[in-house]
Amino acid sequence: MTDRRNDKIIDGKGFAEALRGRIGENVAILKKDHGLIPGLAVVLVGEKPASQIYVRNKGKAAAAAGITATDYRLDTSASQAELVALVERLNEDPAVHGILVQLPVPDQIDPSAVINAIAPGKDVDGFHVINTGRLATGQMTGPDAAMIPCTPLGCLMLLQDRLGSLCGLNAVVLGRSNIVGKPMAALLTQMSCTVTVAHSRTEDLPGICRKADILVAAVGRPHMVQADWIKPGAVVVDVGINRIASPTPDNPDFMRLVGDVDFDAALKSAGAITPVPGGVGPMTIACLLANTVTAACRQNSIKPPAW
Ligand code: GUN
Repeated sequence: MTDRRNDKIIDGKGFAEALRGRIGENVAILKKDHGLIPGLAVVLVGEKPASQIYVRNKGKAAAAAGITATDYRLDTSASQAELVALVERLNEDPAVHGILVQLPVPDQIDPSAVINAIAPGKDVDGFHVINTGRLATGQMTGPDAAMIPCTPLGCLMLLQDRLGSLCGLNAVVLGRSNIVGKPMAALLTQMSCTVTVAHSRTEDLPGICRKADILVAAVGRPHMVQADWIKPGAVVVDVGINRIASPTPDNPDFMRLVGDVDFDAALKSAGAITPVPGGVGPMTIACLLANTVTAACRQNSIKPPAW
């Protein structure tokens, strides 16, 4: 009998590679036809090891696509005023089309003050309140369209690739963070889904999830979503990246990455599901690059590519 598991596993890594290829082609066209090289400024305050890895990966991916990525490092003790001054300088720099301040920032800095200091058109994370408002009000086209947060944008691309139109489908978003849950819900609403946002205080989470044609899990709790929470045939997008102890005889300290969904069990009932790793994660970086190119186009009155 043929193994049908692979048909159900959504290959985010492969999709992201193809998207990065298209981004690279578009960057080459922008350079050739308009003399425009998209520029991304990546700002890191402090020396958190995980943040350093994320920032390095973002810079490498940008460079591979032909985007000029410039790193800005501030000391852990940097003040909010210093960081805002840097952001304001980058806002004025015409070679910088996208600005990303890696989160979290140290305690002495209010993250929203910094995010909201970024020019909305350069806010490639899509976290500025103006972009949040534009997404909430469905301002999706034109020079002042919303910049869409990268992880929800990546999830949407994978869903549309699998399902085509999402119109009329029941979507449940598990998690209400500003980075994933809330913008994901807004995007799915924009796509004419019927959206429920569920979270740790929701009553009868399994019952709510079982109504979902689309289930996006973004709670940060390893293996929380069980197989019997999933409607047969539903498309499941697992945003969770959780590191759990998984000792082996050779390596008692071994840690592995798992999502918010009990993947092996869920595979039996889901119509399709993203794995962890190799699902949503690679899409987030690819969408950051796409947003940077979109921002560069808008700032130069060039029609952005339809990704
Ligand atoms: N920290 C964790 N995720 C993100 C992200 O998507 N953008 C930024 N700027 N910081 C993060």
